Amino acid sequence: MIGQAPVAALRQMTGFDLAAVLDIERATFPADAWTEGMLRGELADQPRTRHYLVAEVDSRIVGYAGLAIAADQADVQTIAVYAEHRRSGIGSQLLTALLAEAARRGATKIFLEVRADNPPAQTMYANFGFEPYGVRRGYYDDGTDAITMMRELDG
Ligand SMILES: CC(C)(COP(=O)(O)OP(=O)(O)OC[C@H]1O[C@@H](n2cnc3c(N)ncnc32)[C@H](O)[C@@H]1OP(=O)(O)O)[C@@H](O)C(=O)NCCC(=O)NCCS
Repeated sequence: MIGQAPVAALRQMTGFDLAAVLDIERATFPADAWTEGMLRGELADQPRTRHYLVAEVDSRIVGYAGLAIAADQADVQTIAVYAEHRRSGIGSQLLTALLAEAARRGATKIFLEVRADNPPAQTMYANFGFEPYGVRRGYYDDGTDAITMMRELDG
């Protein structure tokens, strides 16, 4: 990714994007996909405490990501890329943009939870300087643990 041209065009998510975003959400997280209502709730708090992005390739939404920001703390709420578009740098583009927005808004720390059985995402987060700091036992509906990760930001 470093030194390469961006693969996708990023822009802020709006309610008009929800059908496309829900397609990715349901394909990516079939067991516990967010509902349209949950996503609308997130967008209702944008820009006050939320920052949601979509990633487009050839004008088609192929990924999205969301950030929550409260005072000096930020949380990666979600990030997903269509399977056929993975490993081309789009997840990194989205995460880079979330980190920049968190820093721009004055957050000094950014947190996330990731499934213990999701090494690809854990690797991406580790590449971005996130460090594991705890485990939430049985956090997900199917009993899988969540690994909590954190990274300091320059603010
Ligand atoms: C996690 C996810 C968003 C990454 O998106 P992506 O577009 O593939 O990310 P990138 O191409 O920018 O890859 C970033 C780095 O993550 C790591 N990575 C990503 N997928 C990986 C895999 N399958 N195996 C090992 N490392 C992987 C690599 O280090 C990769 O860099 P590299 O390709 O230069 O080696 C994507 O895999 C996804 O949508 N997964 C399903 C949803 C999900 O798990 N979301 C996170 C929930 S916490």
